[in-house]
Amino acid sequence: MNPTQLFDPPSCSYTYILFDEDSREALIIDPVDEQLERDLATLQRLGLTLKWAVETHAHADHVTSAARLAELTGARLAAPAGCDIGTAAVQLKDGDVLEFGRERLRVLHTPGHTAGSVSFYWQRAPHEHEEPPSEVAQTPLGHQMRPDQRHDDRHVFTGDTLLIQGCGRTDFQSGDAGALYDSITTQLFSLPDTTIVWPGHDYHGRAQSTIGAEKATNPRLAGKTREEFIALMNALDLPKPRRIDEAVPANQRSGLRQDAGGEAGVDAAAAGSASGYAGDITPQQAHERLEAGAAVLVDVRTDAEREWVGFVPGAVAAAWKQWPGMALNPDFDAQLRAAAPSGQPLMLLCRSGVRSIAAAKRATELGLVAYNILGGFEGEPDEHAQRGRKNGWRHAGLPWRQN
Ligand SMILES: [Fe+2]
Repeated sequence: MNPTQLFDPPSCSYTYILFDEDSREALIIDPVDEQLERDLATLQRLGLTLKWAVETHAHADHVTSAARLAELTGARLAAPAGCDIGTAAVQLKDGDVLEFGRERLRVLHTPGHTAGSVSFYWQRAPHEHEEPPSEVAQTPLGHQMRPDQRHDDRHVFTGDTLLIQGCGRTDFQSGDAGALYDSITTQLFSLPDTTIVWPGHDYHGRAQSTIGAEKATNPRLAGKTREEFIALMNALDLPKPRRIDEAVPANQRSGLRQDAGGEAGVDAAAAGSASGYAGDITPQQAHERLEAGAAVLVDVRTDAEREWVGFVPGAVAAAWKQWPGMALNPDFDAQLRAAAPSGQPLMLLCRSGVRSIAAAKRATELGLVAYNILGGFEGEPDEHAQRGRKNGWRHAGLPWRQN
């Protein structure tokens, strides 16, 4: 059950969802853009709050959905410091720990497939209500584990560093066969033998292995010296990954592409402004009107975005769309009317000034006076897909808080 393993058939990639069973806080590893809807549905079905979207490296064979997931769920982005993924607010180094509820995921820097590649080690926190397993568990390769070992509940998510009966290639993207050998033999193979290996890919339908099984039987590593391994890797002569030229640059922006749907990459000012609502105003104008009591500032972002990213003191919260599922908030109309009980003008704030236009149009339909705040709270993404450098409330230096 836990971790939840999800498969993307075109790229044979595995995505993992881990969560704390008490708080239902979750973390996703290596999400794939084509599977965004599936992953959102899985989070919703399991009743989870996504806290982190993380990468093991900048992938060459598929594009991540991390940025879209963050935008839709309020999750934070974390990526290895050595992978040039500038859109991730948290840059992971060896030994760093990501927390979700009571659970802790530890970063192991395992270079070789790429210079920045990491693995993630998870020893689940004990949960009181769990029965210890009674039967002797069997690994896919037939290695028996004693029930007490099974109960260790240790997992390692190896990305493309260690695969089942194989390993990631080392012939492009700063790959280094010697470094990969060292990462696997000194870092991963020093984990307890019962640790379950969850790979980033499998091309033969296998789901998981163990450190002990890979140590004993992985044909690239078992009984091989460092020199033999390097010679073997250098002789593979693999074709160039089909999507590398598209995937790596996109993944270095957490999957944001200029043609992406939704809010990312949409220029609010260029979208044709102020038809169907009272008009566009700058964050400075909105702040002056708020201070003067001349208008009500309504924050239409989700609860998760306000909680994670920050909020404007004195603003009224009325989410336009709401997690789970980013469905339209059924109480939006009532919340807007309550925000302007005597018909005060409203000023609508979202992340970057796109949702607030839709919300302002709706407010106008309800007979209210509604302005859109240009650039929203975080601003539109700049050419590096980073927010807060171009425009928006925070960029203008106006008051905001976190917690
Ligand atoms: Fe890879």
